[in-house]
Amino acid sequence: MGARWCLGPSPKSLDRPTIEVVKQLFLDQTGERYVEASVRSLPIPEWGGNLVLLDENNLLRGLLWANKFSDQRVRVVAFAIDSDFKGLGLGSQAWNHLLAAAREDGHTEVQLEVRGDNHHAIEFYRRRGLDIIDTLEGYYKAGVGYVMRGNI
Ligand SMILES: CC(C)(COP(=O)(O)OP(=O)(O)OC[C@H]1O[C@@H](n2cnc3c(N)ncnc32)[C@H](O)[C@@H]1OP(=O)(O)O)[C@@H](O)C(=O)NCCC(=O)NCCS
Repeated sequence: MGARWCLGPSPKSLDRPTIEVVKQLFLDQTGERYVEASVRSLPIPEWGGNLVLLDENNLLRGLLWANKFSDQRVRVVAFAIDSDFKGLGLGSQAWNHLLAAAREDGHTEVQLEVRGDNHHAIEFYRRRGLDIIDTLEGYYKAGVGYVMRGNI
């Protein structure tokens, strides 16, 4: 099964069926429930930090959505890959694409929020040089969250 990362459209211009796929992906992979309007309103421009993973039928199987939070910093708003495609190095590929695009635009930091119980993701980010810099109470229904940040 082949899948490849492509530049994604802005979330507000996604078609209805794709929004449904994104909602299901978020629910399955992060436990977070989104409605159509909340997916569409995510502030993600079209750039090298907006990546969608497409399978051989061009169905969406993952995404990495980041924005340009400030001149200095990019913020990862969502990062999820369908279970069939996890652990194949595709997450690392997307991460490297994001960092290359961010550096090209002159950014020097990456930041994101992650659930405290998501050990797999926390370790993934730690191995890529991010550290926990803050704890979030009441951000996730399931418990505490962490803000992670790293230099790029
Ligand atoms: C976090 C997430 C996006 C990472 O994606 P992934 O595709 O599983 O990540 P990768 O396969 O690139 O990396 C995971 C590990 O798989 C291993 N791996 C297995 N097969 C591999 C291969 N063929 N090539 C490279 N790495 C491979 C690597 O050891 C890698 O570990 P590393 O960090 O030491 O490089 C994904 O696991 C996911 O969707 N998780 C659920 C949602 C989530 O938690 N999102 C983050 C919220 S903030």
